[in-house]
Amino acid sequence: MHHKDLISGKVVLDVGCGTGVLSIFCAFAGATRVYAVDASDIALQAMEIVRENELSDKVIVLHGRIEDVEIEEKVDVIISEWMGYMLLYESMLGSVIFARDKWLKPGGLILPSHASLYLAPITNSHRYQDSIYFWRDVYGIKMSCMMPLAKQCTFMEPSVETISGENVLTWPTVVAQVDCYTIQAPDLETITAAYKFTSMLQEVVFFNLWSPRAMIVPAPLHGFAFWFDVEFNGPVRQKFKKQTSQPLDVNMPNYNPSNKKKKADVSIVLSTAPEDAPTHWQQYWRPMQSDPADEVCNMGHIALEGLQHESCCAEMCVMNTSQHEPYYAPKLSDMADVAVLADVA
Ligand SMILES: C[S@@+](CC[C@H](N)C(=O)[O-])C[C@H]1O[C@@H](n2cnc3c(N)ncnc32)[C@H](O)[C@@H]1O
Repeated sequence: MHHKDLISGKVVLDVGCGTGVLSIFCAFAGATRVYAVDASDIALQAMEIVRENELSDKVIVLHGRIEDVEIEEKVDVIISEWMGYMLLYESMLGSVIFARDKWLKPGGLILPSHASLYLAPITNSHRYQDSIYFWRDVYGIKMSCMMPLAKQCTFMEPSVETISGENVLTWPTVVAQVDCYTIQAPDLETITAAYKFTSMLQEVVFFNLWSPRAMIVPAPLHGFAFWFDVEFNGPVRQKFKKQTSQPLDVNMPNYNPSNKKKKADVSIVLSTAPEDAPTHWQQYWRPMQSDPADEVCNMGHIALEGLQHESCCAEMCVMNTSQHEPYYAPKLSDMADVAVLADVA
């Protein structure tokens, strides 16, 4: 409702409306008409919900793919909850681009308008210890010989889980920036970025369980986390966009919290960062076995491919140059919890 003035009196298109909740918010905000489009049978529920709220004269639900439906007029505003897991994985951004090019009036508004995907090294000792040191003593039976295998397994599977801000070793790098007004479908095929991190976290390690003696060491690196934020920029945001917008594939290792504050001053930001309130997108953790040398400083390249494919063939390659070994994450489709998340989306 912060952008009520941008919606009031406007014709709105909700791409992938689901239950129609966003469409109804727009009607409440004074939209003249809202076209609520969804490809799945949830559109039938949306029709019921719209009727129940006596908004059938304002909210027109269309059951079909945005690529196939016919809308009676061009629209002033496009809204969409298009963001997928890790921002782009199986996201609907391609459909929003299609809708923009076909149905948005020149100078029209897109909400959300901008998105950023972040990458940061993380430590996760509790989780690591739970899954590995568990084997030291299993109901009084020594199973330490299982630890190398457990370690291997822990570092094999990427997962979607909630990561706390306390696990993040340093400021993140921006892996990709999306400007919904200008991005083109081919831009989403491959995303590459370089990263260089210097850890800012240390931890206290006791010599043994009974000793009061301890030493301070760099917090161990247990992999990388990805998250994103999206901005809801009105026309006033064009100014901010000029200052910060980067083409995709450009590494921008200068994330800093004051930028975030500046963003917040001029537009609405939905963040899925570890330090912010958890969302259903959570964070994506790509575990990595690290060399002690990487724990203070590590650098490399990341390549994400096929994120938009419905057939789950996304690949991630992380080349940590301090290790010289490229790491190919398992196909994202191998992740059970991603499937769950895709269902939610
Ligand atoms: C994340 S959900 C949106 C949820 C909605 N904002 C809500 O609150 O209920 C995405 C929706 O987009 C729909 N969808 C995906 N691709 C589509 C397309 N090409 N055309 C129309 N709808 C699509 C899906 O069926 C799904 O209901």
